[in-house]
Amino acid sequence: MPAAPLTLHVNKAVTHLLRGSSLLAQLLAEPAHARDAWVDALLGMPEAPEEEALPRGGVPYVPCEVDDIVAMVRELPLRTEDTLVDLGSGLGRVALIGHLLSGARAHGIEFQPGLVQLAQARARALGLARVTFTQGDAAEAPLEGTVFFLYSPFNGETLTRVLQRLKMLAKERSIAVCCVDMELASERWLRARSTSRAGLTIYRSVTGTRM
Ligand SMILES: C[S@@+](CC[C@H](N)C(=O)[O-])C[C@H]1O[C@@H](n2cnc3c(N)ncnc32)[C@H](O)[C@@H]1O
Repeated sequence: MPAAPLTLHVNKAVTHLLRGSSLLAQLLAEPAHARDAWVDALLGMPEAPEEEALPRGGVPYVPCEVDDIVAMVRELPLRTEDTLVDLGSGLGRVALIGHLLSGARAHGIEFQPGLVQLAQARARALGLARVTFTQGDAAEAPLEGTVFFLYSPFNGETLTRVLQRLKMLAKERSIAVCCVDMELASERWLRARSTSRAGLTIYRSVTGTRM
């Protein structure tokens, strides 16, 4: 018998047990420096494949720290009824962990097909039907959600276009935009809130003001 399915079976069983407050408690019981490796082992995260070509302004794949994801979930807070969208989702850690901690539906948009395939395979192997990924340019892909997460995924024209489209969406309904290591201070339609993490800023769309 091949040995590989055993690993998937173990990971699936563990994530069925570890969700919400149980997952959070076990994660926080780890020393801060060990949390990323702990969660990667729990989820069975693969190695990132070789980098593929990106649209102009695109930033290569680097995963954000799990402590930033936890702070986003707790301090927003991310609710079961939210839809979290990670713009430039890489291997899918933000969507997977955000969903497991909160129960929210989570979706990742990623330009590199190899990363998308691996993220989709991980969600499937873990039995997480509410976590999905699509391949595409965030500047053009449908943006449907209540909470948008950006770990410095792109800049320049792509960022301008994405912010224009999020601003249009915010005219229909209130949204949150969570940014790690990037500032959106000039966006008058967003109100910033600092968090327990130096790199993480949570923005809420402002309704009733001239945007
Ligand atoms: C800094 S990484 C963040 C990864 C992920 N959010 C995480 O924290 O684990 C940026 C990601 O954005 C993707 N990216 C860059 N430009 C993009 C674009 N225009 N549309 C979609 N994804 C893009 C890159 O391929 C990369 O995986």
